[in-house]
Amino acid sequence: MTDRSPPITLPTFSLQGKVCVVTGGAKGLGFEFCRAFIQSGCTSLAILDLIPTETEAAAEELTKYGIASAKYNHRAEDVKVHGIGCDVSSETAVQEAFDKIMKAYGRIDVVVASAGIVHNYPALDYPTERMKQLYDVNVHGVFYTAREGAKYMIPQGGGSIILISSMSANIVNQPQLQTPYNASKAAVKHMAASLAVEWAKQNVRVNSLSPGYMLTKLTQDILAKNQELKNTWEGLTPMGRLGKPEDLSGAIVFLASDASSFVTGTEIRVDGGYCVI
Ligand SMILES: NC(=O)c1ccc[n+]([C@@H]2O[C@H](COP(=O)([O-])OP(=O)(O)OC[C@H]3O[C@@H](n4cnc5c(N)ncnc54)[C@H](O)[C@@H]3O)[C@@H](O)[C@H]2O)c1
Repeated sequence: MTDRSPPITLPTFSLQGKVCVVTGGAKGLGFEFCRAFIQSGCTSLAILDLIPTETEAAAEELTKYGIASAKYNHRAEDVKVHGIGCDVSSETAVQEAFDKIMKAYGRIDVVVASAGIVHNYPALDYPTERMKQLYDVNVHGVFYTAREGAKYMIPQGGGSIILISSMSANIVNQPQLQTPYNASKAAVKHMAASLAVEWAKQNVRVNSLSPGYMLTKLTQDILAKNQELKNTWEGLTPMGRLGKPEDLSGAIVFLASDASSFVTGTEIRVDGGYCVI
């Protein structure tokens, strides 16, 4: 095997030549999805996130990662990552961001809607403005993102859209109280199914990916101060541990790539078995 020959894998999993867009890509799971895409051969990537400077810095970090990891699936000189500041709860901001991506790359093959927020309040005390903000980001923002992606995918003959839902679409988390979040994730799961049917004939596939408890920087910081909560979450997970962000890499690449060419409207849960008990 030469340095440029691909690692042994099913060729349909390759993302070579595909333009991928990830919202919430500056941090957490979104950032990890980008790394998985680069590892799978994607060299044209755009990340959308709230704070422009952080988003540009994350794009630079991903470019460096792409250059450093160029061995089998891609060439260092091909790696291009655009970081675009965008509040996904603003329809016009999402439209402008996708316009920029089209100007930069001329097509869009994969869209991942990962930007999302969570608050914990008992329902009786939940501040209404915060609840509206949560639905604006987690539901409306995901809808604007999916719609903008499909708008460009339909004329070009298809694409793959992945909406990041949560196991919370299927179960009620304990002990933390987060009713609007859980309902928002159920909405995202059903949005994926509904859009999948709406755009199936145009070859735009829409699926949801539902993580269980994942150890991102955010959850690590919370759990570092609360060992009891960590024990509870681990105890409720049949595999007895929390997920690492990389545990989602196989599922996201499968859904983004042609390996899932007949998969649409489905939910893939990656939760260590949480939802089946
Ligand atoms: N971490 C988990 O355990 C877990 C479990 C299930 C589902 N999820 C879902 O996965 C997705 C990613 O979560 P994460 O853990 O990576 O969270 P995170 O907070 O680490 O990352 C979320 C990213 O979204 C961005 N964002 C927030 N509001 C935005 C907005 N209005 N416009 C643009 N970007 C915005 C944030 O700046 C951040 O970079 C979310 O939708 C979340 O609900 C996470």
